[in-house]
This record gives sequence, structure tokens and C-alpha cells, in this order.
Amino acid sequence: MITLKINGKKIKAKEGSTILEAARAHGIEIPTLCSNEALKPYGACRLCIV
Ligand code: FES
Repeated sequence: MITLKINGKKIKAKEGSTILEAARAHGIEIPTLCSNEALKPYGACRLCIV
């Protein structure tokens, strides 16, 4: 487990998870366009800024 801080809130996340996955696992919503579980991480739209 790793510890990180998002919006001033300390959260623990599984090592190897993305910031987006960690945020979602803790109920922190980050808007996305190109993120899709069926696809490999692509990072094309830059909407999520993570
Ligand atoms: S959702 Fe597109 S870059 Fe993050």
C-alpha cells in the first residue's frame, strides 16, 4: 500500500494503481473522457489531468 494526498485528504492505495483508480476507490470523482476499463490507459483527452 502507498499513501497519497488528493484534495488535502490522505488516502491509501494499492501499489501499481493509477491516481485515477485510487481516487475512484475513495469516492473522489474525476471527470474523464478517454478513460475506459476496456481500453489500455491512453491519456489523450487531458480532461482528468492526472
Ligand atoms: S481521461 Fe483522458 S486523459 Fe484522462
